[in-house]
Amino acid sequence: MATFIVLLGPPGVGKGTQARILADAKKIAHISSGDLFRENIKNQTELGKHARSFIDKGELVPDDVTIGMIRERLSRPDCIPGAILDGFPRTPVQAVALEKMLAEFNGEVSVVPYITAPESVVVGRISGRWTCRLNGHVFHHMFNPPIKAGICDIDGSELYQRKDDEVETVTIRIRVYLEQTIPLVEYYRKSGKLIEINGAQSVEQVSKDLCAAVNI
Ligand code: AP5
Ligand code: MG
Repeated sequence: MATFIVLLGPPGVGKGTQARILADAKKIAHISSGDLFRENIKNQTELGKHARSFIDKGELVPDDVTIGMIRERLSRPDCIPGAILDGFPRTPVQAVALEKMLAEFNGEVSVVPYITAPESVVVGRISGRWTCRLNGHVFHHMFNPPIKAGICDIDGSELYQRKDDEVETVTIRIRVYLEQTIPLVEYYRKSGKLIEINGAQSVEQVSKDLCAAVNI
């Protein structure tokens, strides 16, 4: 049976950073709902235009749109052995939809690492983040600076600051997270799949703890 890892945690805690490291190390697919939306926005698709109106305000994109996008992504061949899900599910409705979809694809959620850090830490990480235009690689002006300012070390593309990383929007994203995503923590805790990871450590230490937790 294919195994899927669901990464939970507040905005800016390091889900994307850790998902990429784990996906590279274990050679499994990384599905980031935020990256998929940003790709659609960049390519000016209808989905992207619709999603943008929610993302720029710090709100969640409606469940039906998000679930449809993830269903399409899960149906691709690289997900047959399983995948790391980063940013999905984010509401109880999405979690139930995920279980149904995975049953169709002969898979299941094996473990749910829940990366936590105080609000001041996540705000500091988001405010210093620079994201690459081409592939969404992330840097931080203090904690993970690019070799050349404004240029991605990995693919040479331009680095930009996400519009939803502006202070007012971050406050809304954190509120939305507390209201709509925190209920998922209890949902997965009850299922026995939740493992808490201290995200207020170096990237390397979080990565070690995460690898030990997922045991793949
Ligand atoms: P999304 O892109 O998923 O945003 P998010 O959950 O707010 O998370 P971020 O991507 O901001 O942070 P991250 O945890 O990935 O941290 P990162 O690794 O970059 O979603 C964006 C929007 O899309 C949502 O607001 C919503 O509108 C929509 N959306 C997405 N999914 C949806 C869904 N399922 N349903 C509905 N709507 C959805 O790290 C942050 C910074 O910290 C970086 O600069 C990094 O270099 C640095 N850093 C990382 N780890 C460390 C560390 N250990 N120490 C020091 N610095 C670190
Ligand atoms: Mg991310």
